[in-house]
Amino acid sequence: MLIETSEKINQIDSKNLTNEILSLKNELNAVILAHYYQESEIQDLADFVGDSLELARRASTTKADVIVFAGVHFMAETAKILNPNKLVLLPDLEAGCSLADDCPAEDFKNFRKNNPNHFAITYINCTAEVKAMSDLICTSSNAEKLINSIPLEKEILFSPDRNLGAYLMKKTGRKMTLWNGSCIVHEAFSERKIINLMLENPDAILIAHPECEDHILDKANFIGSTSALLKFVQQSPNKKFIVATEVGIIHQMIKFAPEKEFIAAPPEANCACNECPHMKKNTLEKLYLCMKNRSPEIILSEEIISKARIPIDKMLALS
Ligand code: 13P
Ligand code: SF4
Repeated sequence: MLIETSEKINQIDSKNLTNEILSLKNELNAVILAHYYQESEIQDLADFVGDSLELARRASTTKADVIVFAGVHFMAETAKILNPNKLVLLPDLEAGCSLADDCPAEDFKNFRKNNPNHFAITYINCTAEVKAMSDLICTSSNAEKLINSIPLEKEILFSPDRNLGAYLMKKTGRKMTLWNGSCIVHEAFSERKIINLMLENPDAILIAHPECEDHILDKANFIGSTSALLKFVQQSPNKKFIVATEVGIIHQMIKFAPEKEFIAAPPEANCACNECPHMKKNTLEKLYLCMKNRSPEIILSEEIISKARIPIDKMLALS
C-alpha cells in the first residue's frame, strides 16, 4: 500500500483537509469520535464530541466499520475493547496520558496481590492491561455513583488518580486505598493566579474538573467531568466562569453559551500547561493521514480484550 506522508499534504489548507477527511469518512464508513480536549477544528468535524463515558458509549453502539478516535490512547483502546472486530484508528499512537503512564501493569498487579480482598475500581484513564486486572472501571462522570454501588463491607482500591480518589472519598464517605498517580495538566493550575483572577473578576465563578488538586477544588463553585462542566455553564444563571480544566473544552462552552464569558485557569509556569500535550498530539493533518493510510491502528491481544471488557461492560450497565 502507498503510504501518504506529511510532506505530500503540506500544500493542502485546513478547509480542504477537512473536506478530504469527510470524504474518507464516507469511503471507509467510519465514525469520528472526539474528546472535548481536541483542537477545535477536529471537534468541529467529528460525528460526536463527548467525555470519556459518552465516547465509550458511542463506541459501544456504533454501526460504522471503522472508528477514528480523536482522543488519547486509553480512549481508543476502550473503543477497540468494545469493538474487537473493527478497525480503530488513532491519529498519533504517542497520544498517551500521564495517569496511564503513572500506573504500569506490573506494579498494579503487585498492588492487587498485596491487597487480595480489596475491590479494585479503576479510572478509565489507564492501560488495557490495568483494566483487565480491575473489578470495575469508572469515569469522572459516574465514579461517585459506582463507588456507592460497592457493598459497604468491601475495602476499595482506587487507581490511578490520587486527586480524583481523594475527592471521591469526601463525596462518598468511603475510605479507599489510593494509587499515587496524577494528571500533569490538572496539577499545574496555579492557586495564586486563580485567586488573583477571582479578585479581578468578582462576578466570575470557578468551575473545576475533579482531577485538580484539593486546594483548587476547595475554591470551586462547581466540580464535574467535562460534560458536567459544559452542562453547568449552560444552565447556570452566572455569566462568567474561570475554567479549571484543559482549555480545549472552552470551544464547546462558547458554542453552547455564546453570551457567556470563559476564562481559562492559568498554570503557575508561563506556558500553555493547561493544554494536554497528549491530546494536542492529534492534528487535522494526522487525522487525515491515519484515515488515508488506515494506520496507525489500535491492536490488542484477544486475552486482554476479553478480560478488560468485563469491568467496562459492568460500568456501562451500572451507569
Ligand atoms: P472526562 O471523562 O471528564 O472527559 O475526563 C477525561 C480526561 O482525560 C480528563 O483529563
Ligand atoms: Fe491524561 Fe491529564 Fe491529558 Fe486527561 S488531561 S488525557 S488525564 S494527561
